[in-house]
Amino acid sequence: MPPRWRKEVERVLITEDQIARRIRVLAREIERDFRGREMVVVSLLNGTVMFLADLIRHLSLPLRLDFMGVSSYGAGTESGDLVFTKELRLDVRGRDVLLVDDILDTGTTMSRVLPKIRVLKPRRIKICVLLDKPSRRIENAKADYIGFEIPDYFVVGYGLDFAERYRNLPFVGVLHPHIYKQACKQVCKK
Ligand code: IMP
Ligand code: MG
Repeated sequence: MPPRWRKEVERVLITEDQIARRIRVLAREIERDFRGREMVVVSLLNGTVMFLADLIRHLSLPLRLDFMGVSSYGAGTESGDLVFTKELRLDVRGRDVLLVDDILDTGTTMSRVLPKIRVLKPRRIKICVLLDKPSRRIENAKADYIGFEIPDYFVVGYGLDFAERYRNLPFVGVLHPHIYKQACKQVCKK
């Protein structure tokens, strides 16, 4: 763990190297399933930035890329109300869609995003997430491609944030609980 982060990030959960290796395997699985068909990759902002960039550079398939903006967290670690901050621009009708998110947690985000894409009548939608926390699920949602299944820790890095911070860490780390407890106190005081 770089000394700069030691006070805030308890430990590294998944290293840069483990992520890189896993992404190569995921990309091969996706290539096999899509069999050269052109896909529309729909990526949910902002948490997917790093994962998306690394994943698509390993996909040797024709693809088009678009983004949906979905925002759920304020300064806390629980999903609040979802706000759509950017809508899809590409036409996905009759297309194969690969929906990419950073983490599947309660499943709330997926269960709100999927119907929005389904009404656009794609041929099929496959879901790819870097992380899966199945123990937290409250909605019936599951991914077709999963980088890593993790226990119920609040994690940051490699695109994942806490209150918009830590996205730039090159690894996935467990946030020190004192960081979010402290933030909660500040929010609750207001
Ligand atoms: P869900 O709607 O509860 O499934 O949560 C999905 C979204 O919550 C993800 O796209 C993340 O932005 C965020 N999220 C869930 N768990 C974590 C975590 O451990 N660290 C950072 N963000 C998380
Ligand atoms: Mg997110």
